[in-house]
Amino acid sequence: MDTTELITELNKILTLEHGHLGMYKNFMNYSDRDVRRTFRHFMEMEMEHVNRIQTILRNLGIKPSLIVEGGDIIGKMFGVSINIADELEAIKAFKFIEEKSHQGYLKFTEKLEKENTPLSNFIAEEITSSNQLESYLQYLWLKDRLI
Ligand SMILES: [Fe+2]
Repeated sequence: MDTTELITELNKILTLEHGHLGMYKNFMNYSDRDVRRTFRHFMEMEMEHVNRIQTILRNLGIKPSLIVEGGDIIGKMFGVSINIADELEAIKAFKFIEEKSHQGYLKFTEKLEKENTPLSNFIAEEITSSNQLESYLQYLWLKDRLI
């Protein structure tokens, strides 16, 4: 992976993370108290995911830029429209998105580890693996909520 490819990948991930942030930022609108609390915490986790990716880009001397501009990122990237009035449907959609996110991070981390350069190892160990684990934990919570 050359630098251009790495930056493209990171900007794509950054865009997806902004999409995740958009999923949980309306946490107050849910009727279930446990869902509200959890989504508020998920929103904070997503802010952290965005920050981690932005930090790598800035350290590479790159201005972070989204590949899909604003608005409904998840809708544009996955063709999924989320109706938050239907709590169950929203949870199903978020579970799908977090599972995809975890799979995407797994692939990206593997790629970085295979490269085995100081930079790729640093990104894999310090940044993407945290986002990867957290997306998996979010996926598990959402999945469990559906049982
Ligand atoms: Fe995330």
